[in-house]
Amino acid sequence: MSNDVWRPGEDKSPEKDNEFMLESYEKGSGEHTHVHEDYDPSQPMSFEDIRKLDEKYVLPVYARMPVAFQYGSGEFLYDTEGIEYIDFLSGIAVNSLGHSHPDLIETLASQADRLWHTSNIFFSQNQAMLARALVEITFPGKVFFANSGAEANEAALKIMRAYGQSVDPKKNRIVALENSFHGRTFGAMSMTGQGKIHNGFGPIVPEMIYIEANDKDSLMAAVDSRVCGIIMEPILGEGGVLPLDPEYLQLARDIADEFNAMFTLDEVQTGMGRTGKYFTFQHYHIVPDMLTIAKGLGGGFPIGAAVVAEKFTKVLGSGAHGSTFGGNHLGTAVGYEVIRTIESGKILENVVKMSTYLMGELRKLAKKYPEIIRNVRGMGLLIGIVLPEKMEARDVVKKALEKNLVIGRAGNNVLRLAPPLIVRKQTIDRVIERLDALMESLKREHPGK
Ligand SMILES: Cc1ncc(COP(=O)(O)O)c(C=O)c1O
Repeated sequence: MSNDVWRPGEDKSPEKDNEFMLESYEKGSGEHTHVHEDYDPSQPMSFEDIRKLDEKYVLPVYARMPVAFQYGSGEFLYDTEGIEYIDFLSGIAVNSLGHSHPDLIETLASQADRLWHTSNIFFSQNQAMLARALVEITFPGKVFFANSGAEANEAALKIMRAYGQSVDPKKNRIVALENSFHGRTFGAMSMTGQGKIHNGFGPIVPEMIYIEANDKDSLMAAVDSRVCGIIMEPILGEGGVLPLDPEYLQLARDIADEFNAMFTLDEVQTGMGRTGKYFTFQHYHIVPDMLTIAKGLGGGFPIGAAVVAEKFTKVLGSGAHGSTFGGNHLGTAVGYEVIRTIESGKILENVVKMSTYLMGELRKLAKKYPEIIRNVRGMGLLIGIVLPEKMEARDVVKKALEKNLVIGRAGNNVLRLAPPLIVRKQTIDRVIERLDALMESLKREHPGK
């Protein structure tokens, strides 16, 4: 391996002509045909080589955008050619503190130097410290650690079911929202209220009821004593960056109490400062019985967690649930540093300030392009730009990429912006310029939409 890490602006690989890299890897290297001994991840291959390898060897479950990033710094990403992109997606609300944050690098490197993994059969200092921090920024209770949002939600599903069983064997129903998204594992997928995500995998986990978001009547009709849990995202992410009404959330809280069901909030995407408070529920006067967290918690390192309120911490006892990697030394060290950085860097204040500015600028664009921008909604730095119903957000995301701007989509016709929480005003201004040009070109392509 080379010690010369490639940086944007430098010539590509100092050692290899990367035009021929894949060809030489394909030939193998004598005795070692399975791995190429001088393969060096710090040296970029050409995009075409990466694409060819991906097509040949990676299961095609993702509809990929035509770029491979090789390097990141703050609000910026750099592709294999060294071309700079503004990152207004943060790996879908994950790299909240931007790329290559020096404190996160230092924490990860120093932990990697000492200990990576032991097992959950042993105590862990980092896990205990992060659990304490998470309880302190949420509500009194205890934490289960996982590696992803889906796994945090799997734990939540088991806890809701186990609580129900402890009251009455028939208390096993879960109420979730239509157009919600809770992950791709079986339980999380089953709680997800989208037929297109279940298609081809049936039968899904039984006793799931999906109701329309923000419709109080459906909520009241769906919940009775057979319900063991209600799960909601306070802002539907995949469902088009659609915030739930505060009164609706309050009703869900009250109704869960009335029928002795657990009220779970999935803040995998909306948590860890994304909306200007640590968690979105903190904007309202409600506290859930359980909270699932992932994405921003590790700043890019995989980690998930479920915080369980005091009253429910005995629902699962020893041996009832677990994970080999959940709460691993590396992830929990980084998670703790993420929280410390959010506090010391006054990150929540920055989210509020930058969100007000960004929303204002986007609303100006909406006025300028009413035929393209139908609405701007969201909270903090999770923002949806609603396009006309027939316009494919995916095509617009691709066009933004051609303008060196990374954004995402949320549903078919909503653009999702989730910039890093450290975003600066000058970067927002550059993004608005690019979006303006993008909207102008869309207007020309879709006259009269
Ligand atoms: C609200 C919500 N819950 C759960 C998940 C699943 O998280 P993961 O992809 O880490 O399993 C996601 C991912 O997008 C999400 O947005």
